Amino acid sequence: MRKAIVAGNWKMNTTLEDAALIIGTLVQLQAPKSDVERVIIPPFPWIVPLQQPVLDGGFMLGAQNCAVEDQGAFTGEVSASMLASFCTYVIAGHSERRHLFGETDDVVRGKLLAILRNGMYPILCVGELLDERDAGQAFEVVDRQLVAALKGSSKESLSELVIAYEPVWAIGTGRAATPDDAQQMAAHIRDTVASLFDIGFAQSIRIQYGGSVNETNAGAILSLPDVDGALVGGASLKAETFSRIIDAVGSRRS
Ligand code: 13P
Repeated sequence: MRKAIVAGNWKMNTTLEDAALIIGTLVQLQAPKSDVERVIIPPFPWIVPLQQPVLDGGFMLGAQNCAVEDQGAFTGEVSASMLASFCTYVIAGHSERRHLFGETDDVVRGKLLAILRNGMYPILCVGELLDERDAGQAFEVVDRQLVAALKGSSKESLSELVIAYEPVWAIGTGRAATPDDAQQMAAHIRDTVASLFDIGFAQSIRIQYGGSVNETNAGAILSLPDVDGALVGGASLKAETFSRIIDAVGSRRS
């Protein structure tokens, strides 16, 4: 059985004091858990100071982005090789990177390769815009993003791959995808991965849903057969709320 994975993407939020408080409260609220990986994905500067409390508390650490290259004259970039001593997971292709910062499918693939090359696990984000969904192109867009990112990599190198389906219209809008839509797309992603590799591999990788996950909808989302976890933005900034979302994993597969 695939292990659940719930990750909190803090985006460009929190002061260092806020960050320490969220972790401290989360650790107090959360009993040790073996059925779910809990991942904190803070802004870059908090990764080093948070590493110890996050790991001591039984959580894992991730980064929101990384460079394609490992080093060199790339002012303002942070490389996967720099993150590798601290992080287990790195997000590649978040929709905010794709749409606000112009990351192309090729760039996302380069980042995915950098994450793998440096021994970390990618959380590859895919998802369609509202116009694309309304035009009936959601599957096509997600397939294009998946194929571009994964083609050419071996399934051995991708053994810890996590794919996050984050429909862009659901991010930060309070309008989550319906459980039916989330399940349908997660199953479709598995089919596409099966066609790129094989069914066994497609069944082994974990798929998260992200976009306005909150403590009210988490139970329904996390109990979907092809959804193995959640990538949570705004609701991960409140320790009590994020803790209840993690606890909703208990409603899964029971
Ligand atoms: P929200 O949960 O705030 O909608 O953000 C989702 C997201 O983008 C997580 O990466």
